[in-house]
Amino acid sequence: TKLAIFASGTGTNFVALADAITAQQLPAQIVLLVVDHPDIAVIERAKERNVPAFYLNYKSFPNKQAAELALVAKLQAASVDLILLAGYMRILTPTLLDIYPKRVINIHPALLPNFPGRHGILDAFNAGVTETGVTVHYVDAGIDTGEIIQQAVVPIEAGKGLAALETQIHAVEHELYPTVLAQLITTED
Ligand code: GRF
Repeated sequence: TKLAIFASGTGTNFVALADAITAQQLPAQIVLLVVDHPDIAVIERAKERNVPAFYLNYKSFPNKQAAELALVAKLQAASVDLILLAGYMRILTPTLLDIYPKRVINIHPALLPNFPGRHGILDAFNAGVTETGVTVHYVDAGIDTGEIIQQAVVPIEAGKGLAALETQIHAVEHELYPTVLAQLITTED
């Protein structure tokens, strides 16, 4: 299974997925990293692992559709089977999604449908809920609204600080994302 990972930031999930592949826990290969900024840390992580990076400069296209069509051409040239969003901060449209039905997956740091959007960990923390977690889901054209594949619960005990919660959520993400993908890929084969 040929994976493309879309990321906009640090890339700890990229690293977790790459490490799972190296450890033979995930029968796949990362053939492309897609980024929407030219100078983010995840690009370095990809270079270290000889994964080519494609910078999609949305601003250089007349509109989002044109940008996504250029991206689709790149994905098709790399024979990508599955697209994984890992901290990708842009909403994809049906221009791309219709070409990859049930082939675009995201990880979100909250128990969807609760706390969608950019600040899932902080929003759950501020809401004072006693548990939050991580969701792996299919991507549709909404913001964190696609069909849920799997979730993992992270309790918020009294006195737990935001930093501790963030650390724990990220650790759960790094475990859950490769595990869920491995299950999906092996049941499809
Ligand atoms: C993760 O918390 C992911 O759930 C969210 O963005 C963050 C990306 O982190 N959508 P990283 O770039 O993988 O370190």
